[in-house]
Amino acid sequence: MHLTQVRRVPGRTRSSLTEIPTAGALHGVGGTLAFKRDQLRFLDDGIRRHGDIFRFRPLGIPMVLVNHPDYIRHILVDNSEGYDKDAALFRIVRPVLRKGLIANADMELWRRQRRMMAPHFTPRTVAAFARNMTDETEQMLDRWERRPAPGGTGGTLDVTDEIGQLALRIVNRSLFSADVSASAQAFERAFAEANSILGAFFRFPFPPLDVPIPRHRRLRRAIDEMDTFVSGFIRKRLSEEVSADDATDLLTLLLTSVDEEDGKGMDLEQLHHEVLNICIGAYETTTNTLSWAFYLLARHPEAEAKLHAEVDEVLGGRVPAFEDLPKLAYTRMVAEETLRIYSPAYQFMRRAREEDAIDGYRMPAGSNVLINSYFLHRHPDFWDDPERFVPERFAPEEVAKRPKHAYIPFGSGHRICIGKHFALTELVLVLATVARTHRLVLPQGAPEVHPEALITLHPKGGVRLRPESRR
Ligand code: HEM
Repeated sequence: MHLTQVRRVPGRTRSSLTEIPTAGALHGVGGTLAFKRDQLRFLDDGIRRHGDIFRFRPLGIPMVLVNHPDYIRHILVDNSEGYDKDAALFRIVRPVLRKGLIANADMELWRRQRRMMAPHFTPRTVAAFARNMTDETEQMLDRWERRPAPGGTGGTLDVTDEIGQLALRIVNRSLFSADVSASAQAFERAFAEANSILGAFFRFPFPPLDVPIPRHRRLRRAIDEMDTFVSGFIRKRLSEEVSADDATDLLTLLLTSVDEEDGKGMDLEQLHHEVLNICIGAYETTTNTLSWAFYLLARHPEAEAKLHAEVDEVLGGRVPAFEDLPKLAYTRMVAEETLRIYSPAYQFMRRAREEDAIDGYRMPAGSNVLINSYFLHRHPDFWDDPERFVPERFAPEEVAKRPKHAYIPFGSGHRICIGKHFALTELVLVLATVARTHRLVLPQGAPEVHPEALITLHPKGGVRLRPESRR
């Protein structure tokens, strides 16, 4: 049976709270090895045995999985001050992300940075970037058209790689006025390496990252590669005259703005970390979502036909514009359903700063609370036949029937994704721009693509499809 409301009972004595069920079979050496082998299967097993909340201890690290909308709302919204990001998962990704917004556990610094950056991510600001999104997509489609005749790959494209470069070009052109065409592939390769090494390290954090084994040396090189990518266009901008008056992009704003409270600007190191966080936050999440969306559409011709019908009717052959978004309702549902099934930022964590009570359970201080939307978005109490791709689940009347926190692809509360509007705008505009002229077809006999649980949820081996003109 599930709850409709979390009972937080601060007045109750500690002893009257129930201990969170321990996933006994998932403890100890056996549990650690099972978690290391296949994290998703391990958690699936825990949920089947213990339900919506249970604790486990891979390699002695105290973790609690919560898998109910009410628990998640409690942690991310109602009692968000009781939880921070000084949690195991963020400690692991911090060598890459450092002091940027994503993994920052220093609340004072985080507030200051978020305050300065938020104005560049409002729906109104994002509207100005719509043209970059469709222009870059058109250029990608042109490149596809001009490709040499199909060779050994039967005319298929590595869609994940293509969309990865597109996503990097869009975010860098929009926020930093930077043309990254030449260096996008190097960034992609470095990110993939870091994602895979850190994904494995999360499941088995040994030996520590500062021990120079070959894998950790490769991680160091990948971080250096991403740093070079970012410092390239920061250095270029620094060599130009910049003043707050001509603050047309986020980079100029970050270089020139001062905080309203302390009157100080941002040092170059912090600026570098924020730019890198934006590139990382925007790149792989959008790439994975669009790769999965094209893959799902190729496997579901009825959904693809509805998408094409909407795009043809709304656009009448034009390239989409920001103003078309409200009319592209089915396209948006395709994006939202893809984000449900293959939520790219599928896991995140909080640390309980002090002891808390959730639904009469005692949440011990220091617990690493794991929120995993791969399972939340398949919770049988909120999603019928959850493995099926059904964009209609996101029709307004269906959304109204579900608790808000049954669906959290962008997180929730004060640490909600700063790029949410940017991402949703980009997803819908790229889908509609491609669908206007092209369809992506599954080659005959193509194997099924499975998700790979790294730090993000990645389509294992990438998505390969064959572009076909619709004209
Ligand atoms: C489909 C696309 C995207 C998804 C699914 C996604 C998902 C998420 C999630 C779940 C979080 C919250 C993590 C937590 O609470 O611990 C987050 C945070 C963040 N995302 Fe995104 N994101 C996407 C696109 C973007 C884009 C386009 C940008 C930048 C342009 C971006 C930048 C960030 C940043 C900087 C944070 C940290 C926010 C903070 O703590 O203040 N993301 N994202």
